Amino acid sequence: MIGIFYGSATGSTADVAYKLAEALGIDSTNVFDVAKVAPSKLGDYDVLLLGTSTWGVGDMEDDWEDFINGAEELDLKDKKIAVFGCGDESMSDSFCSGVGKLYQRMQKTGATFIAPYNTDGYEYNQTDAKIDGQIVGLLIDNVNHPDLTQAKVDEWAKIVKEAI
Ligand SMILES: Cc1cc2nc3c(=O)[nH]c(=O)nc-3n(C[C@H](O)[C@H](O)[C@H](O)COP(=O)(O)O)c2cc1C
Repeated sequence: MIGIFYGSATGSTADVAYKLAEALGIDSTNVFDVAKVAPSKLGDYDVLLLGTSTWGVGDMEDDWEDFINGAEELDLKDKKIAVFGCGDESMSDSFCSGVGKLYQRMQKTGATFIAPYNTDGYEYNQTDAKIDGQIVGLLIDNVNHPDLTQAKVDEWAKIVKEAI
């Protein structure tokens, strides 16, 4: 079973989370705002899609800051995790870096990380979401390139499906 957990301040990452649910054919009751659920909920799912936007300079969205303290302590060895999130390419030195931080923090859980992707169509200098030469998940810039969002969601959802 797939669960989608997101943190979102102005609704962009929430929107991507629900778009992903639709693309994956999963019911929206499996989509959770991390501000409103306990980390233990992660245990109910085999596959976890974890999403955060980026705030400050390269930080995870605020609601994740609390949630992750509990989440990273869980034993998720049998689970698969894929990460996603929204940013703005004009924050060129920290584009979607919160997604990279989320990925790094969740390593402790022992989960298997799936579905690296690309940033085709976006222009920026640097992102912490590039780790060991790979973009760790789905990065979305819905501020400057809303026209690219749906196609990226659909393509990444296929990659997720193939990896689970
Ligand atoms: C104060 C502020 C700081 C931001 N910092 C970054 C950043 O470092 N990197 C980035 O890619 N986007 C940054 N953004 C852009 C947001 O991540 C972007 O607007 C995103 O769509 C918000 O998603 P949300 O509504 O799901 O929170 C910043 C936006 C604001 C207003």
